[in-house]
Amino acid sequence: EGDKSSDVIWHQASVSHVERVASNGHRPGVLWFTGLSGSGKSTVANAVDKMLHDIGCKTYLLDGDNVRHGLNGDLGFSDEDRVENIRRIGEVSKLFVDAGQLVSTAFISPFLVDRELVRNQLQEGEFVEVFIDTPIEICELRDPKGLYKKARAGEIKNFTGIDSAYEIPVNPEVHVKTAEQSVEACAKQVIDYLKGSGYLL
Ligand code: PPS
Repeated sequence: EGDKSSDVIWHQASVSHVERVASNGHRPGVLWFTGLSGSGKSTVANAVDKMLHDIGCKTYLLDGDNVRHGLNGDLGFSDEDRVENIRRIGEVSKLFVDAGQLVSTAFISPFLVDRELVRNQLQEGEFVEVFIDTPIEICELRDPKGLYKKARAGEIKNFTGIDSAYEIPVNPEVHVKTAEQSVEACAKQVIDYLKGSGYLL
């Protein structure tokens, strides 16, 4: 594809990244939730976002509703479209990190290389991978949107975990098992990681 904007000059911002971080009182980063459909990504990400907001952090939550209907409304669920979905979400996340915020993203993000690409575009410590590890049997039992049923019936093609791959994280910063503890306990696990790693000054 190449860079079609090679003649566009990047302006140095008047407010520096360091100044933005200092005024927020916490380190910035992406809390990258990944897991199967119905694993509880959005639920746990929402709970984390609320806890962080309540203690005064500058936060934002990116998830399906505000991204797949808007910015990525032109994308479907082929491998190619998922790659582009994650690439754009990665770029948007980078802007939030530059703004000094703690941004949570809740997308299946099934491919390891795409998640690593986002990680590698950020500074050390700015990418926190949160694996929402819920067995597919449980996700399928929950089936909040009835999509597993449709996928099993062949009415939806390329469904993650059924006829489209999900590559599990190799070394996630946080490993959450939603089938074994409450939403609050899951969220607290993420908050504890952030506290223990010096995000919350
Ligand atoms: S991805 O793989 O990261 O690009 O997917 P994401 O943007 O997170 O979108 C996943 C939600 O879209 C619904 N949906 C599907 N998921 C998986 N496979 C297929 N084919 C599919 N078609 C629609 C589904 O409701 C996912 O919602 P969540 O919140 O993950 O349960």
